[in-house]
Amino acid sequence: MNLDELEVQMSTLLFRVVSWCRTLTGRILHIMRRYILARTIPVHKVQNPSLVEYFEYQIGGTIGLIKKDAWFRYRFFGEYLQKHALLGEIQSMLCVGCRNAYEIDYFTSLGVAKVVGIDLVSVDSRIFRMDMHDMNFPDSHFDAVYAGDSFEHTYDADLLAREFVRVVVPGGLIIMSVPANEETDHVDRLFVSKADDIYDIFGSACDKVILEDDFCDDSGITRALRLIFRTRSVEA
Ligand SMILES: C[S@@+](CC[C@H](N)C(=O)[O-])C[C@H]1O[C@@H](n2cnc3c(N)ncnc32)[C@H](O)[C@@H]1O
Repeated sequence: MNLDELEVQMSTLLFRVVSWCRTLTGRILHIMRRYILARTIPVHKVQNPSLVEYFEYQIGGTIGLIKKDAWFRYRFFGEYLQKHALLGEIQSMLCVGCRNAYEIDYFTSLGVAKVVGIDLVSVDSRIFRMDMHDMNFPDSHFDAVYAGDSFEHTYDADLLAREFVRVVVPGGLIIMSVPANEETDHVDRLFVSKADDIYDIFGSACDKVILEDDFCDDSGITRALRLIFRTRSVEA
């Protein structure tokens, strides 16, 4: 065998090893996602193929970024709540789709007595594994719901809005950021371009807008909506 043939054979072998490692990694990730899913979601939902796919995409997106600290999101809201003396009315807060404990620690450090989170994956005892569309909390359980870039991950926006409103006290606060004018994909599924798109989903449950902030890029296009609103105190 001459040197050229040896080089070709070595390259072929290397290519095969790399592809084999990729397949193996893919299979291991698939098993991990299924395992996490089975521990998180009730069996009747796991049997629904389109929801299985939905949850697998969400979990896949989250485990790769599990240590990310999106401080710019929660700090923006924390500073606003402090500045406008709204923190005093929040004794309990739910962080929906918190991914890890950074936002829980932050709101706790601001003096909120009870802060818990939910996500499909849990890396902290204060984070409960739950589907945000179907939470295991009683009605009117929290003074505020915080959703930092998680609402757009919905598979049913109307159902999700109803669930947010259900778990927060009437007249309580919904605090949320949502990417705007972004292409949707399997993970980020809801397209919104303006605050009214969100208010329309909440309908009459959205009572009083407290903060409506459009975060724009250099060309003036809204890239994120940052909203705080109160839910309706008494059913109309
Ligand atoms: C973009 S991350 C936002 C994380 C964090 N709140 C932040 O501000 O960076 C969206 C989070 O929502 C979670 N999520 C997606 N679908 C969910 C569902 N149906 N129920 C609960 N959490 C979900 C994901 O696992 C992920 O951690």
